Amino acid sequence: MSLLQIAKLSKRFGGVVAVDDCSLDVPAGSIMGLIGPNGSGKTTVFNMVTGFIPSDKGTVSFKSKSIDRLGPDRIYELGIGRTFQLARIFPRLTALENMLVPVRRKGLRALFSRADWTSERARAMEMLEFLDIAHVANKLGGTLSYGQRKLLELGAVLMAEPELVLLDEPAGGVNPALLEKIGEHIRRLNERGITFLVVEHNMSWVMNLCTEVVVLHRGRAIASGKPDSVRQEPAVLDAYLGA
Ligand SMILES: Nc1ncnc2c1ncn2[C@@H]1O[C@H](COP(=O)(O)OP(=O)(O)OP(=O)(O)O)[C@@H](O)[C@H]1O
Ligand SMILES: [Mg+2]
Repeated sequence: MSLLQIAKLSKRFGGVVAVDDCSLDVPAGSIMGLIGPNGSGKTTVFNMVTGFIPSDKGTVSFKSKSIDRLGPDRIYELGIGRTFQLARIFPRLTALENMLVPVRRKGLRALFSRADWTSERARAMEMLEFLDIAHVANKLGGTLSYGQRKLLELGAVLMAEPELVLLDEPAGGVNPALLEKIGEHIRRLNERGITFLVVEHNMSWVMNLCTEVVVLHRGRAIASGKPDSVRQEPAVLDAYLGA
């Protein structure tokens, strides 16, 4: 069963065709890699799926229902979380407070009941522990290292209990040890039932982690399948060598 279905999606910015008739299916339970050269349209696809920008054409369905006309908040409430190419966290809130922002965003209910709020804090601490950043819970977001910010952003997204998480370059600019760790976190979360669509330039990392891979080239999905078969396709080699 596919959790997310993208059909013939297109987006143009002035004269630039960023996404061109792009179709892809993300199977429930998968860790799907979305790869492609710089400027091939990966982030633009994410922006359309999550309602940050409108598409020109095409449709996006989540759990077989169209989410085309919905805004980012509604899409988030439906269970699609995302991280950004440059981690977006609140620098003047502590790590723990950053974790609780999505809870507030999800509804005021949690704010009115002290019991709920206490349990949300406990859940946030558990998540920080899971991500190995519990020791910075009370530090301001702005003082965290690059890698800690990336993990914190992922943690905050997970607080909303999404079914699908879109990660835009989670391993970009992080050291090899953290890279391994992020991959391990994604794998463990996937075992708990979360589906991932991951954009990443680090090929060996993607090929190791992902259960399937889709290759974008000039806004089109030119290949998809298991990592081992996709990496051998001539069109994929051309896309990378030509870029
Ligand atoms: N808001 C925008 N206005 C104008 N052009 C844009 C805008 N966003 C993206 N583009 C253009 O659309 C194309 C696709 O960009 P996009 O950011 O989706 O690529 P990408 O695959 O995420 O690249 P990268 O790997 O470098 O992050 C590029 O040519 C880019 O310059
Ligand atoms: Mg991008």
